[in-house]
Parts: sequence; C-alpha cells; structure tokens
Amino acid sequence: MNIKNICCIGAGYVGGPTMAVIAQKNPDINVTVVDLNEKRIAAWNDENLDNLPIYEPGLDQVVGEARGRNLFFSTAVDEAIDNAEMIFISVNTPTKTYGVGKGMAADLKYIELCARQIARVAKTDKIIVEKSTLPVRTAQAIKSILDNTGNGVKFQILSNPEFLAEGTAVEDLQAPDRVLIGGEQTPEGLAAIEALVNVYGSWVATENIITTNLWSSELSKLTANAFLAQRVSSINALSELCEVTGADVNEVANAIGKDSRIGPKFLKASVGFGGSCFQKDILNLVYIAKSYGLDAVADYWEQVIIMNDHQKRRFAKNMVKTLYNTVSGKKIAFLGWAFKKDTNDTRESAAIYVADILLDEQAKVIVYDPKVTAQQMYADLDYLQTRSSEANEQGLTVVKNPYEALQGAHAIAVLTEWDEFKTYDWQKIYDTMQKPAFVFDGRSVLDKAALEQIGFQVYVIGQ
Ligand code: UDX
Ligand code: UDX
Repeated sequence: MNIKNICCIGAGYVGGPTMAVIAQKNPDINVTVVDLNEKRIAAWNDENLDNLPIYEPGLDQVVGEARGRNLFFSTAVDEAIDNAEMIFISVNTPTKTYGVGKGMAADLKYIELCARQIARVAKTDKIIVEKSTLPVRTAQAIKSILDNTGNGVKFQILSNPEFLAEGTAVEDLQAPDRVLIGGEQTPEGLAAIEALVNVYGSWVATENIITTNLWSSELSKLTANAFLAQRVSSINALSELCEVTGADVNEVANAIGKDSRIGPKFLKASVGFGGSCFQKDILNLVYIAKSYGLDAVADYWEQVIIMNDHQKRRFAKNMVKTLYNTVSGKKIAFLGWAFKKDTNDTRESAAIYVADILLDEQAKVIVYDPKVTAQQMYADLDYLQTRSSEANEQGLTVVKNPYEALQGAHAIAVLTEWDEFKTYDWQKIYDTMQKPAFVFDGRSVLDKAALEQIGFQVYVIGQ
C-alpha cells in the first residue's frame, strides 16, 4: 500500500518531532498532527519558530521547512483521521493514579479514547501505528475496540516504538540506530509493515529497519528503557561507594567503559535519572511481571527505581548535612530544573524531588533554568501535593538571570548539565555568595579544581 496521508494523534514531545521529520523526509506524503489541546496546536502553528511548544535543537528548522508544505498541525481530529490511510497514536500514557495498578500500571484511557474515536470516524481501511510506549499486548485491546465498534472497515495494528531521546530528538530521528516495526504475521499484517517500512525507507537504510511480531516490538521498547535506566542506577549505586572509599566514579566509569562489552555510554553518575519514560516504563515492566506471578523478575527491575529514589534523596540530605545540619531560611540556588540539558521537559526531573526535600527543611530555593518556565516549576511541585501552592510559591523563587539566583546564596546545587553553567564567571559568583560558599555538583559538570582554587567548598557526586 502506498501511503499518501498520515495522521498523528498527539502533538507532544514524541508526536511533534517524529512527524516533523517524517514530513521533511517524505515531501510527497501529507502529515497532519492533531491534538485536543488548542493552545499546543496554536503554538505549533506560530509564525515565530521560537514559540514552538517544545524545545529541541534543530526542530525549528525542520518544522520551518515542512510546515505548510506537507506538514500540518490541527485540532480537527475527525477530519484528519478520515483522510489518512495511516494513523499514529502518540498520546500520553501516564502511570495510573487510581484503582488497580495505581502507581505502577500505565493508564491507557487516552489510548482507548483514540481507538474509539478512530473506530467511529473511519470509513476506509486504516493502518494504526502505536507510537506511545504501551504495555505488552495493548495492540490486542486496540484491535478489539476497533473491530467491535467500527464501521466494518479493516484495521491493521503496528507497533513502532520511539527511541528518540529528548534534547537530541531531531538527530535521533534523522539518523536512528534502528527503527523497530512490529505487526501481525499474516499477509495483511506483513503488507502493513511493508507500508511503514517504505515511509522510513526514504531516509533510513533497510538493514536498520527491524521488523518483528507485535509483542516483541512492544516489549522491546520497555526493555530498552529498563536496560538504559539500569545502567544509570548501577553507576549511581557505585557513586555512593566511591564517595566512601576514595575512588572517583568518573575514573571508574571510564575504566569499565573502555571494555567494549560494556561500552562508554550511559555511565554518567548523576543526581538520578528523570524524564517521562524511564520510571514509567520500568514500573510498567514490574507490573506486567507481577501480573504473571513472576515476583523475582518484578523485584529485580523494581530495584532500579529504588536506587534512583535513593540517589535523589541522598543528594538533598547530603546538602543539609554539609550545611551544618540546617538549611532553614538559607538561600539555596539551583542551576537547572529540566530532567536533562537541551530540553524544556521537566517530567520526573530529580530537581523537583531535591527541591521538595529542601523546602521541607524550610530552605529558600532560588532556581535558574535556561528553558523551563516558572509556571512549569510550580506545577511540578504542586503535583507532588506535599504542601499548598501558596507554600510552594513562598519557598521557591524563579529568576531569569543566573547571577541573580546565585547572589547571596549559601549553596549552589547543579541539577541539570546545561553547557552554559561551565562558562559562568565563577570568581564573580564566589564574591557575591555567603561564606563558606558551597557547590553541590549533581552532574559532575563543573571544574572542581578551578572552583576549589577560587575558594569554593565543592562536592561532586561520586567523588
Ligand atoms: C507520549 C507518551 O507519554 C510516551 O509513553 C510515548 O512513548 C510517546 O508519547 P510525549 O509525546 O512526551 O509522550 O507526551 P506529551 O508531550 O504529553 O504529548 C501527548 C499529547 O497528546 C498531548 O499534547 C495531549 O494533549 C495529546 N492528547 C492526549 C490528545 O490529543 N488526545 C488525547 O486523548 C490525549
Ligand atoms: C529515553 C530513552 O533514551 C529513549 O530511547 C526513549 O525513547 C525515551 O526515554 P529520554 O528520557 O529523553 O530518553 O532521555 P535520556 O537521555 O535517556 O535520559 C534519561 C535520564 O537519565 C535523564 O535524566 C538523564 O540525565 C539521565 N542519565 C542519562 C544519567 O543520569 N546518566 C547517564 O549516563 C545518562
């Protein structure tokens, strides 16, 4: 089947960039991205490319090239579904906050809503592509809804999980390590797989497009994230051991990373991993294992999360301890709030949890992040429901100038590895701070020796 029109439901961090690149590389396919959120769609359509709703290096250029030509952003969901031969589902699948599986299972209510909407609207055969990360065998549920509520048209379900990382989304999409496509192993399923292979085939070499059955594809996505997160938790576990033994975690990471069987990537000790996927996907894996009665498997993976929670708490507690066991009324400056550099996404960012603990200790937290809005930071804290919104606003101040954040501070905590932090005038910062001036580098990005030379007391994770 030759695809001429693609629709994508969900214009978020995944749907937006993915469709922009598909449109850029396939000028002959019309790609329409729809979302219920009118403000988000308006931002995607903003003439000024600086106002796109998500920040990703290089994305403005791709959108600038394709938008209006064959890339469209709209709130007319029904119309886009009706016109498309292939529909990507890219809506969010948060962890359930209620009922069975609360705190663990993925909440599939948006996926189900999409399936029902597609079933209601579709008048011609469609290929449905799961882009959102989903528990294994979700495709079966989608298929059952489509087949039982539809207008008698035929649906094929494909799983095509996203492996882009935020901050490098455009790069990851333009030159992916691999594209994974799972589908039913029937003649119709194989034809649907072929249609999607052709979409990616415009720019991805065929040997880098892996095709599997549906369940392998769904499970591979969860597994890839679980393995990546496990590496971070493994090195973070070692960071604590390094601190007490006199080893240096960066040296250890370098030494083991040179072993080609281990490899150098994802061995950066940190204040804990964040992002919309790792925790959610592991919880999902744990929940699936438990639901099949595989308790040992569940416990094994759950430990990755337990270690991550420990790392965030440990960082905050170490700050309190170092600051003479009290931060009450003290000004603590945060550099960074995003869950990693080059993104304005804050979901599950370690900074939120560190701030929460310090606010409990009555610290005055002042935050500077180059891309995250104050509104987002307050929303992140409010979401934890630890204290009232008023109390959060009282405890946390957001500034637009880093030097303002650091002025008069008792301590600085680096929570995100933004490159610009390295370029600051640290002598000037030192001069305006309370003494002793403490720096807690949760990302190991600053030059420790240079800071100590100036007079700072420096703590670096894993040293
Ligand atoms: C989402 C999932 O969270 C993740 O599991 C998957 O791997 C990729 O897709 P992301 O794109 O980061 O991640 O989510 P988000 O930025 O929240 O975007 C989802 C969008 O879907 C939102 O803009 C939301 O308004 C929209 N949406 C949600 C709909 O248009 N319709 C719905 O029914 C639900
Ligand atoms: C991840 C996966 O990498 C991607 O393939 C998947 O599709 C979505 O989930 P993302 O969450 O965007 O991507 O970011 P990632 O680069 O994986 O980082 C996740 C977290 O781990 C960040 O908080 C990051 O700072 C942290 N991290 C990463 C470390 O602490 N140390 C490392 O060595 C690497």
